[in-house]
Amino acid sequence: MDLLSVLQRLAPELEKGLGQVFSLADLEQLRVDFLGRKGRLAQLMSQLSGLSPEERPAVGQMANEIKTRLLALLDGHRADLEARQEAAALARFDASLPGRTPWSGSLHPTTLVQEEICAVFNSLGYEVVSGPEVENDYYNFEALNMPPEHPARDMQDTLYISEKILMRTHTSPVQVRTMLSRKPPLAVIAPGKVYRRDSDLTHTPMFHQVEGLMVGENISMAHLRGTLTAFLRAVFGAQTQVRFRPSFFPFTEPSAEVDISCCMCGGKGHLNGEPCRVCKTTGWVEILGCGMVDPAVFEAVGYDPSVVSGFAFGLGVERVAMLKYGIGDLRMFFENDVRFLGQFA
Ligand code: DAH
Repeated sequence: MDLLSVLQRLAPELEKGLGQVFSLADLEQLRVDFLGRKGRLAQLMSQLSGLSPEERPAVGQMANEIKTRLLALLDGHRADLEARQEAAALARFDASLPGRTPWSGSLHPTTLVQEEICAVFNSLGYEVVSGPEVENDYYNFEALNMPPEHPARDMQDTLYISEKILMRTHTSPVQVRTMLSRKPPLAVIAPGKVYRRDSDLTHTPMFHQVEGLMVGENISMAHLRGTLTAFLRAVFGAQTQVRFRPSFFPFTEPSAEVDISCCMCGGKGHLNGEPCRVCKTTGWVEILGCGMVDPAVFEAVGYDPSVVSGFAFGLGVERVAMLKYGIGDLRMFFENDVRFLGQFA
């Protein structure tokens, strides 16, 4: 049989083949049989060289037309198959079923508590300020009355970037930056991340603090007590008892640590006849550090300690959140388990 009539039979044969094809995989197989590199068309084309030079152009042109026709047949059948598959999928789809409710995010407990703390101080007239997390030794230590070699530096487990640059170990350097850039009187609150070389069940290398500072004329320890008592009752409830214990910080004199009555057992030390695991039966939990700004700090920022006085305080945000929500494990704050986080929505 001559080449031309064999070529002309390709399209009808493909059509016949397509009649048996119901899947995309079978369709691909058929395409390879006809149009693949070793397929039927390719084999016929290889016989072109056996023709005389006069016959060759016409047969070649015919072969090209047939190739186009084969491709069109294959494409048409593919579109058919796909349309049928889609129709089948739509037939299975029940538009009357309820949709899946999309997940909505919620604020992290640390953020919630930080915002709550700031809101309480905002309502008392404090302004929110911030400072850098990568800090100078000067602002983090020296201006806060901790010169090089000061023993209190050891308590802070500092992460150093270089000899004089470090990750701030507390939010207290924001006090220094604020006083250097403003004149008294002022009342500010500085929330933010702090860093320490410390990691165990109750410590993480990064956590959050809020620093507070009020400076003006005739600011006394009584203002400090009244302010912090009001604040702690706003956050932990009006029934909360507050006590001040003498303590030491290099940047305040006198200094105090503040305890609140345990919010788990209500200050009783026992809960349902069991020893309270939060206050360890003492009825009190430590919540913050505070004091009257040390004159040496005022001198470092160019304030006259014979004219102004002030108080400062600092507290850990995760600690407040743990006590407020009864969270027993600090690691919860950093694992981002949605089963935990979703409870604060
Ligand atoms: N900076 C202290 C710390 O990180 C907390 C603190 C204590 C801040 C007393 C204060 C303060 O402003 O007066 O442990």
